[in-house]
Amino acid sequence: MNFIDEIKKLKQKKNATILAHYYQVPEIQDIADFVGDSLALSQKAESNDADIVLFAGVKFMAETAKILSPGKKVLIPDINAGCSLADSCKAKDFKKFIKDNPGRTVITYVNTTAEIKALSDISCTSSNAVEIVNSLPPDEKIIFAPDRNLGNHIINKTGRDIVVWNGTCHVHEEFSLEAIIKMKEENKEAKVIVHPECELPVRMIADYIGSTTALLQFTKNDSSKCYIVATEPGIIHQMKKENPQKTYLAVPPRDSTCGCSECNFMKLITMEKIYRCLKTEKPEIHVNSKIISDAQKPIKRMLEISRKLGL
Ligand code: 13P
Ligand code: SF4
Repeated sequence: MNFIDEIKKLKQKKNATILAHYYQVPEIQDIADFVGDSLALSQKAESNDADIVLFAGVKFMAETAKILSPGKKVLIPDINAGCSLADSCKAKDFKKFIKDNPGRTVITYVNTTAEIKALSDISCTSSNAVEIVNSLPPDEKIIFAPDRNLGNHIINKTGRDIVVWNGTCHVHEEFSLEAIIKMKEENKEAKVIVHPECELPVRMIADYIGSTTALLQFTKNDSSKCYIVATEPGIIHQMKKENPQKTYLAVPPRDSTCGCSECNFMKLITMEKIYRCLKTEKPEIHVNSKIISDAQKPIKRMLEISRKLGL
């Protein structure tokens, strides 16, 4: 079966739109109506005229789309597309963490479950985390969850009083520092570009740190010919599309026997699953209405601050 043609037909027939994260495989990025990072995808989920939103990404992203557009049918081609970072922060434990650290504004990364968002004051993504923190009064005390590496990156950039939850992404904490150093020795002109979810030693040797969109933008505007890329390698597809003459080297994980520089959750989504999902309109994302109304507040506050800052 030609999945590309069938998906196009179903999209048109059902007035469906496909939103895909940069970590999807190239053919899925190419069939999507919109490809972006977590921030851009939330912005798109808030404003689109489709009746059905199919999320080619992971569950927390699809849940965010449902929270922002509760009247739409939101589909995810594989309900098991989770996230190790979101899993590292359970609502019961997080409630206690907030209680143990009273008087702090709760900022959470969108890589969290809907329940965690419902406990938060403001959401953020890696594209706007530093700016969101800087938009608050300087003496405001903050809780940041769940990614400890992004949290520490924000502390370094803002100098704010922030208590950080101890969570990590299994993809970004696995990049090999030794491999980066070796790649740099072999490609002296290459620039090391790093996602803020990476560990401190990797962030310390970076020429540039940014969200997936920021890394893409950097490779577009920068004059170097070669980049050592420390984030999920799906983004390299867009980098090559923008600048095919440049070289992009994906950083391997510390453990060469595992394929964990790719996000196994993101890669659960396939063209065949997208086709079946559009055809059967299953699996569908459901979020409890009380959680939707509580979780809307932090996400809308993030989108409002981002709009004001032109992000
Ligand atoms: P972005 O905010 O760069 O899209 O990152 C999302 C993500 O899942 C990183 O692991
Ligand atoms: Fe979650 Fe990490 Fe996969 Fe992003 S790359 S979806 S943070 S497990």
